[in-house]
Amino acid sequence: MAKNKLKKTYNYLAKRLKGLEPEAVIILGSGLSGILSDVDSLKKIPYSKIPNVPKPTVSGHQGVLDIIRYQKKTVAVMRGRFHVYEGNHPDDTVRLLRALVLCGVKNAVLTNAAGSTSLKHKPGDMLLLKDHINVTALTPLSSDEARSLGTTFVDVSEPYSLKLRSKIKSIAKKHKVKMTEGVYAWMTGPQYETAAEVRMLNKHGADAVGMSTVAEVLALRQLDVDTACISTITNYGTGVIKGRKLSHEEVKIVAKKMQASLDKILKSLIASL
Ligand code: HPA
Repeated sequence: MAKNKLKKTYNYLAKRLKGLEPEAVIILGSGLSGILSDVDSLKKIPYSKIPNVPKPTVSGHQGVLDIIRYQKKTVAVMRGRFHVYEGNHPDDTVRLLRALVLCGVKNAVLTNAAGSTSLKHKPGDMLLLKDHINVTALTPLSSDEARSLGTTFVDVSEPYSLKLRSKIKSIAKKHKVKMTEGVYAWMTGPQYETAAEVRMLNKHGADAVGMSTVAEVLALRQLDVDTACISTITNYGTGVIKGRKLSHEEVKIVAKKMQASLDKILKSLIASL
């Protein structure tokens, strides 16, 4: 590993996680920080203590790395994530994730809040991602830090693991939670999209739109980590319903209502890893 910011983050975490090395990571997005909070927590590390990791600025994101133990599995739960719309370089948004992978993480399950680009997916629906469109054209793979980790010419023909997707689909079915598969478009934000942008995204095959996740998926693919993402549809994208205005408050309220079913799904998934 090259001498870079990542090395410092990794050294700190490796020391703190000695004997508690997580085998999986779960990232909880906007309004979802309360998931998996009733399970044994082995250690909680505020992001503010971890070197070279940005400070979260978004309400609804706790900013804590929670190492939990459930069904004999040790899992790193990131309660809150980092975004480029907070002024972070894509590298900074994935550094904690990269350090966790260097500590032994093999599977990643990401969650987020997203807007639906059409009437096909409604607020309250869960969308299991099968692919994404990187509208931002930003990447965490163009840096020295990324090159220090191996080739950056990463294959992304299967960004979301078929194996994990199939497990998640059958778990959702068992818990009678409606979940369909779809494509996510990454916009930088923090402003929501215009109605014309949402129409364009839908025309080009995006079912949902959000401001996160894709940089993480690219970093995880480089490191060969099996990755899945469940989007909670919190609202219709701008213009899908004429005259409707969007707000971060609404996004957080709807995501919060979906926490209970997502909690059940994630627990079953951890048990099956
Ligand atoms: N657009 C972008 N990001 C989002 C949305 C949206 O409509 N809803 C939740 N996150």
